Amino acid sequence: MGKLLPTPALKRDDSLNVKDNRTGKEYTVQVTHNSIPATFFKGIRAPAGPNDRPEDETERGLRVADKGFLNTAVIESSITYIDGDNGVLRYRYVRVYVTVATHPEAYRRGYPIEQLAARSSFLEVSYLLIYGALPSGSQLSHFTSEVLLHGPIHSDAEGFFRSFRYDAHPMAMLTSAFSYLGSYYGEANPSLQGQDLFTKAAKGDATALQNMDRQIFRMIGKATTLAAMAYRIRQGRDFVVPPTGMSYTESFLYQLDHLSPTDQLSGLQSYKPHPVLAKALDILFILHADHEMNASSTTVLQTGSSLPDPFSAVAAGCASLYGPLHGGANEAVIRMLLSIGSPKNVPAFLEAVKKREKVLSGFGHRVYKTSDPRSFIIRKVADEVFAVTGRDPLLDTAMALHDAALKDEYFVSRKLAPNVDFWSGLIYRAMGFPMDFFPVLFVVPRVVGWVAHWRQMMLSPSGVKIWRPRQVYVGPSTRDYVPLEERKGAAQVGIGMEPSVIEHSGMTKRRKLAEASDKVRSKL
Ligand code: CMC
Repeated sequence: MGKLLPTPALKRDDSLNVKDNRTGKEYTVQVTHNSIPATFFKGIRAPAGPNDRPEDETERGLRVADKGFLNTAVIESSITYIDGDNGVLRYRYVRVYVTVATHPEAYRRGYPIEQLAARSSFLEVSYLLIYGALPSGSQLSHFTSEVLLHGPIHSDAEGFFRSFRYDAHPMAMLTSAFSYLGSYYGEANPSLQGQDLFTKAAKGDATALQNMDRQIFRMIGKATTLAAMAYRIRQGRDFVVPPTGMSYTESFLYQLDHLSPTDQLSGLQSYKPHPVLAKALDILFILHADHEMNASSTTVLQTGSSLPDPFSAVAAGCASLYGPLHGGANEAVIRMLLSIGSPKNVPAFLEAVKKREKVLSGFGHRVYKTSDPRSFIIRKVADEVFAVTGRDPLLDTAMALHDAALKDEYFVSRKLAPNVDFWSGLIYRAMGFPMDFFPVLFVVPRVVGWVAHWRQMMLSPSGVKIWRPRQVYVGPSTRDYVPLEERKGAAQVGIGMEPSVIEHSGMTKRRKLAEASDKVRSKL
């Protein structure tokens, strides 16, 4: 397992020729792992043409424009491999340099998500993602005990959670909670300790490596604690200390649902979550643990690239994940199904989607173009959960929507299939979680993927380069400042060209009226 096979003797010219028709010059670039460095284009320069503006910087080299990162590889990684065209997801893909003809099995070196979901556990998969191999028994028990040992949090944190408004979204609490958590650990802050605090681990500094792993244990261990606190504050319940002797997901369910020592089910630690629900959550956590360069892991790396403490980077990841196009989609799916109301309304809803009046949440994916392999596993988990919780009536609408969309030319031609979020919300709902808690249930396992990527970046032998992309500037060229009294009329016309006129609250109106009546009185 994981052994690199020798480079094949087969020779091929792995390069690309580019001709710049503006100058007639030809350039050659090496192709490595079927990619070329974007900086290659910077060497392709031409004199400014008749249509070029000075801001195009034509003489300073060609830029690569990729709005939305449709085809830009931002990092070399060996954590997760996705083959979107074939619906494949594997954790810890090992690149093997052989030809398919001689070793057809050689390209199948990652652990298929189906096997991990069926046979592994969330913390074992976490170990795999972070450290690169399935652990031995003693490695797993060391990692498990470190993670669970780091579950409890300083009692000060209770005041932090209580400072939120009664109706605060749990994601607002969790996002700020990770940042808040970082404030406890000055030893993990490169701004305080020196900017090579973590990166020197790549040069073999064992203390730096230990420091990094300590923060990783903390973040995974406390993810459930913070999430449970965000939940309990909304329920008006006191916080509980994480239990001992339970798995990661059992402990999470315990922290969410344990009531009090006087509660019949919760007597001290005798409260045990239902095994089917704990197992289902464990599988869901495995499926959500990592997904290579998605929006939130990219955000974690982008933030981490300027070398803040890792808690800040994870907080940034939470903010990115929360959006309805990413981890907020599970919440959006349920809101959508509720708005559709019943299977008979599905055709009208799909027509509205096709007219772009509505969004079909839980369908489509930037990478998967045939199917999302996680969605098949999750369908099975859903049945197991429904068998103990009872069937959610929304499932009929979901099934009708699913079946109709998969037969409809509009969705088929755009290769839109259900993604993991189409089903996960239904499971969370059946398990009795409030809708706005669904993205939190995505964040908790994804912390593992984020820290695995962050650690990999810190350990990069070539060091960490700040992620500072370029832009294509299309705004005005130089113009002279005009004094206010010489400016005539509206400066610009068009959507978004000036601050909006907004409605003020009743209180502001009353204050304005009071001020106005004051002025009237002073004139008398
Ligand atoms: N409903 C209707 N049309 C869609 C959808 C959808 N959910 N998704 C994509 N399309 C259309 C899109 O309008 C475009 O059509 P056209 O070519 O006619 O303009 C075409 O399909 C290609 O889509 P795209 O916008 O280029 O796709 P993208 O890669 O930029 O966006 C996505 C990917 C996931 C943001 C998008 O599919 C989407 O908004 N889906 C709904 C939200 C959702 O379920 N997100 C969870 C993703 S999976 C979990 C995760 O990783 O977080």
